[in-house]
Amino acid sequence: MDENIGIGNGIGKIILMGEHAVVYGQPALAIPFPLVNVKTIIRSSKEAGKLNCSFHKGLIIDGPKKISGLITVIKQIIHSFDEKLEGLNINIESSIPPERGMGSSAAVAVATIRALYDYFNKSLGIGELFKWTKVSEKIVHGNPSGIDMAIVINEQPLYYIKEKPSTPLECNIDGYLIVGDTGQMGQTKFAVSKVREAMEANPQRSNRLIKEIGDLTNKAKIYIQRNAISDLGQSMIKAHEILIELGVSNNSLDNLVSTAMNNNALGAKLTGGGQGGCIIALASNKSRANLIANKLLENGAKDTWIMDMGVDLQ
Ligand code: PMV
Repeated sequence: MDENIGIGNGIGKIILMGEHAVVYGQPALAIPFPLVNVKTIIRSSKEAGKLNCSFHKGLIIDGPKKISGLITVIKQIIHSFDEKLEGLNINIESSIPPERGMGSSAAVAVATIRALYDYFNKSLGIGELFKWTKVSEKIVHGNPSGIDMAIVINEQPLYYIKEKPSTPLECNIDGYLIVGDTGQMGQTKFAVSKVREAMEANPQRSNRLIKEIGDLTNKAKIYIQRNAISDLGQSMIKAHEILIELGVSNNSLDNLVSTAMNNNALGAKLTGGGQGGCIIALASNKSRANLIANKLLENGAKDTWIMDMGVDLQ
């Protein structure tokens, strides 16, 4: 008898501009980041339902709190199919470092939802994929803006405003994006709550900072459309300074941003929730991008990636 198998994929994402401000209705720009990705493979087994991923190896029902979003969505989908967890062997292989602002939780959910639908031979519409991913992301992030899901599901650069239909972002940037990982788990939920506290304590100041990020994001959108790479870099560094003022950066992120700028990056900033996680930097050519990546590694980055924005986003 042929073995039943279900396969699903998900890619990483990078927020170029607008993190945190997007929670308060400002726009954000984000791109797919396929240099890191997730593959979920489901096979049948004679045993009780099992899950193998970086946070858990064992029975699905024994999974730790960290992956409760994923486990909840698996259980709900199985229930909606009138099927059982027994007999499922779910294997998740991911090259997306978790909790670094690269969309790991959304990509794992998307890959696993796709694999479940594939395994049970069900067709999966985009609306349903959003619905299920939201179940997991709400548990992981509290009340996310939805930008991670939008990018991971659409797999195209987006201009995103919370609760509005996202618009494709026309990308004409001829340059290189360097991503540097501090190696520290980012703390998106904590960082979002810090901004909220600051908002409650001093709404006037916080609203001004959030609005400034929104304005920079709108300008950056135009720079990306017009291939104005130096202007884009300037917007990035300004956005990082505001994110520092909002209290969501930390020494490791600031150190990597300074390292990039000291090595002639056109701009650099944290990406995602902050308080750990990754930075992004911009370079006009490959050799500069390589140099910046090497300097980041020499100065504490645990990993780096280089994306050719002129090629990889087309
Ligand atoms: O840390 P990430 O990549 O999940 O990014 C979160 C982005 C925030 O704007 C900080 C939060 C959100 O829900 O949009």
